[in-house]
Amino acid sequence: MIRDKGCGELRESDIGSTNSLAGWVFRRRDHGGLIFIDLRDRSGIVQVVFSPDVSESAHARAHNLRGEFVIAVKGEVRMRPAGTENPALPTGMVELYAHELTVLNEASPLPFPMEEASEASESLRLKYRYLDLRRPELQHNLIVRHQVTKITRDYLDEHKFLEIETPMLTKSTPEGARDYLVPSRLNPGLFYALPQSPQLFKQILMIAGFDRYFQIVKCFRDEDLRADRQPEFTQVDMEMSFVERDDVIALVEGMLKRIFKTVLDIDIAAPFKRLSFKESMERFGNDKPDLRFDMELKDMADLVQVGSFKVFLDALSSGGRVKALNAKGMAGLSRKELDMLTGEAQSFGARGLAWIKVRDGFESPIAKFFPGEILRGMAERLGASEGDLMLFVADKEKVVSDVLSRMRLELGRRLNLIKDEFKFAWITDFPLLEWDEDEKRFAAMHHPFTSPMDEDIDKLFSVDVTGGEMSAADRQLPGSARAKAYDIVLNGYEIGGGSIRIHRMDLQKKMFGLLGIPEEDARVKFGFLLDALEYGAPPHGGIALGLDRLVMLLVGAHSIRDVIAFPKTQKAVCLMSGAPSTVDPRQLRELHIKVNLPL
Ligand code: AMO
Ligand code: AMP
Repeated sequence: MIRDKGCGELRESDIGSTNSLAGWVFRRRDHGGLIFIDLRDRSGIVQVVFSPDVSESAHARAHNLRGEFVIAVKGEVRMRPAGTENPALPTGMVELYAHELTVLNEASPLPFPMEEASEASESLRLKYRYLDLRRPELQHNLIVRHQVTKITRDYLDEHKFLEIETPMLTKSTPEGARDYLVPSRLNPGLFYALPQSPQLFKQILMIAGFDRYFQIVKCFRDEDLRADRQPEFTQVDMEMSFVERDDVIALVEGMLKRIFKTVLDIDIAAPFKRLSFKESMERFGNDKPDLRFDMELKDMADLVQVGSFKVFLDALSSGGRVKALNAKGMAGLSRKELDMLTGEAQSFGARGLAWIKVRDGFESPIAKFFPGEILRGMAERLGASEGDLMLFVADKEKVVSDVLSRMRLELGRRLNLIKDEFKFAWITDFPLLEWDEDEKRFAAMHHPFTSPMDEDIDKLFSVDVTGGEMSAADRQLPGSARAKAYDIVLNGYEIGGGSIRIHRMDLQKKMFGLLGIPEEDARVKFGFLLDALEYGAPPHGGIALGLDRLVMLLVGAHSIRDVIAFPKTQKAVCLMSGAPSTVDPRQLRELHIKVNLPL
């Protein structure tokens, strides 16, 4: 045995005993006669002391230890002298007086000092990921991740779910991102797609009678990356037969309650708040509202209608919106600061940002366009009082929502309004379809297998979709149909989404029709699911949680890269392994692939 215990496990009860420990040299301090080493392993850090009075040879060799050398030490656990205890460390009352030292391995000079590793550039840390991962913070993140998957498995097992694997080499799935493709050597010219999710397979497992399925599964999406998006990420994917929306919701709430209780000892209140998509868009400007603070968006159309500010009137008359929010206490901003705020709004897509300060009356370049009672009405609607700043955006609905939702978050952060808590919500009643103006066709808001609300099914059958483009009037009814879809949101992040599925073939066919997907195309893409739907498909539905995002929020990280052992960069590169990379020309020949890059 190289060691008896973990470094972080020594306590006062060990005083007087002899212990062997092994780990990495974190810090070394020479204090005259004594050499102090902070020895680190996964369990924590302990102070090891080398004294010539205990062992001359160990002390002499301890001089040569450098950062991240791997050593084993054997010695006596002693109480630290009064005044030298470190209450910040669980082992802080004791130290190990080493009488034996074995250097198990040396380490080259480090690319960054471990003590300041968190300040090294992220690209350097990703290249030397194994060093970065030694940091207690990242170790903690991955330990929490393990806990979450363990609790998830136990919980779902208790609820009669079976963990079933589905293929990684498969066909394109309907999640709507770009696929990662894998060429088939045995079938020249043909490709597998890595799954964007196990969506089709989990539905087929329901048709196959498994009743309750789950999988903690890698999904692959070639999309634009950001702090909460990786090209490969992990879902806690579930599907259940003979359920309705509320069954899925209750199951997930129970699971999250258990996770938060076990990991953080926090009791989260369930049932979670529910907001319809429409309400969420209206009040917060997006479908993943951060509910830890208010600052809601308010519609101003009826008020500004009475004024004569052309920008607002034009927006309204062309079918757009005028909405506003109250930046509490920000009336003190200078012109220059307001210009910067306007610049920010413009960088989010606005054409401008109109402002009215509530200060000794109303102070604003646009105040002159409105009668006093209208200005007072605006303040009243926004709950604005002396010292507040009202901010307005007028534009197409999408721009107004987009800009104000982002301004809301930005201002919430700046004004320190965001409390340190966990605010969950379900977003429900999503539209089934959204009109794609560029492609002149409907797209599925969730995916094409999501069921419409029962009371909206007739709306889908209200139009004949066989002949060409749909007129605006034709689109009206199907466009207003709502889906049996739900997203779960935590602190401004979408941490999961799912739906009750279509299990009747006639409805599924109609859906493809509305999506402008000809039956032959649907056959080619999803034929296996369509076939299966013909052979006794039970009503079913499910959800997938984004494990990376959930763990990120649990540990308080700001990027999912911090909760993934080997993440990729914004450009989908693994800086440690160097993937993606060129391959041997012979491999390409075998695959009948020619790389055609402009020189
Ligand atoms: P959806 O596409 O909403 O649903 O994905 C489910 C959840 O996965 C997370 N997620 C991601 N996390 C990190 N990086 C990404 N690139 C990424 N993309 C998605 C999000 C999201 O809420 N098959 C359906 C589920 C269903 O209908 O049951 C699906 O995949 O947290
Ligand atoms: P202008 O009349 O263009 O000088 O604009 C007067 C004020 O209205 C400025 O503060 C602009 O930033 C603001 N503004 C311009 N366009 C918009 C818009 N679409 N929505 C909100 N405010 C705007």
